[in-house]
Amino acid sequence: MSVRSEPPVEGQHVAQTRAPVLANERLNEEHWRLTLAAPEIAATIKPGQFVNLRVNGGNDPLCRRPFTVFRRVRDGLGIEIVYRVAGRGTRLMAAARPGDEFDLIGPLGSGYRLDESKRMHILVGGGCGVAALFSLGQELSKAAGEGPLELASVLGFRSRSMVMLEEEFRSLGGELILATDDGTYGREGRAVEVLSSFVEARGCADDCVVYASGPEPMNRALVAFCRKHGIPGQLAMEKHMLCGIGACLTCNCKVDKAGVLKHRDLASSHIQLDPESDIGYAMVCQDGPIFSVDEVVLE
Ligand SMILES: Cc1cc2nc3c(=O)[nH]c(=O)nc-3n(C[C@H](O)[C@H](O)[C@H](O)COP(=O)(O)OP(=O)(O)OC[C@H]3O[C@@H](n4cnc5c(N)ncnc54)[C@H](O)[C@@H]3O)c2cc1C
Ligand code: FES
Repeated sequence: MSVRSEPPVEGQHVAQTRAPVLANERLNEEHWRLTLAAPEIAATIKPGQFVNLRVNGGNDPLCRRPFTVFRRVRDGLGIEIVYRVAGRGTRLMAAARPGDEFDLIGPLGSGYRLDESKRMHILVGGGCGVAALFSLGQELSKAAGEGPLELASVLGFRSRSMVMLEEEFRSLGGELILATDDGTYGREGRAVEVLSSFVEARGCADDCVVYASGPEPMNRALVAFCRKHGIPGQLAMEKHMLCGIGACLTCNCKVDKAGVLKHRDLASSHIQLDPESDIGYAMVCQDGPIFSVDEVVLE
């Protein structure tokens, strides 16, 4: 398999920068919001793209950690990352204080693509994944203010204590539906169940598009729902990553050949199609992390 490492968004400059910490705030038991001064990255990053962050100044841990940018702040000079403390690297991030610095590479990957052929645009997020949808929501909110497009957000969390970013999503306008698995806040149920009721109640299956980011079980349910109803959708794939730039092949994933041929210009992707079967191989850091629901093969 050949490797190319040019930026996946044509003409976009990928920067490496030392970004001072402006704030690092705890949102709940597991999640934090890190604000970094990174004007070069903030200037060009698109919804759904990510940065690869070195979590400390030395070599331990050696590898960078990938994070989607939640939103641009401070007049476009800063970026915010919402992160879950999952292991050693993110524990180190949670200890950062204003004035500390992180080494960042970005913007990386290709982001969400607006589907202007549909009227109803629905953000569907689960857990920490909701953060990856917010800047897309900001673009959709602006477009909704200028034309016939409608925005709705369906955000699912495990329980009341895990609910976060409610005010931020409410500020986007449109309908906001919160749900918890145990019913302790908002509606009881999982994000895709709530999405299904919303689409049925609105009768918008023929005129909607879904943009999703969440854990793998949510992705599976979403892909099944969208395929069953013929609803176009895009979702964020999470794979372990090392380089983030297409050089190490760690983030290799299977993709559906027919879905790829429907949605991509192969000449400008890194996807290799298997001539002997219905699948192909993509690199999540270059061809994603955002994929169409027709493209993904969830094993
Ligand atoms: C494109 C992309 C965007 C991401 N955006 C965000 C984000 O905005 N906020 C956020 O909280 N997390 C995000 N993640 C996941 C985040 O990168 C991992 O949680 C983080 O690297 C864990 O580092 P750690 O050293 O704390 O954990 P480790 O000690 O390395 O691992 C702890 C646990 O996390 C799992 N893990 C580690 N890396 C990944 C990964 N890349 N994908 C899935 N599981 C992983 C491990 O299997 C293990 O169970 C993203 C991942 C990708 C690929
Ligand atoms: S993370 Fe190295 S190729 Fe994707």
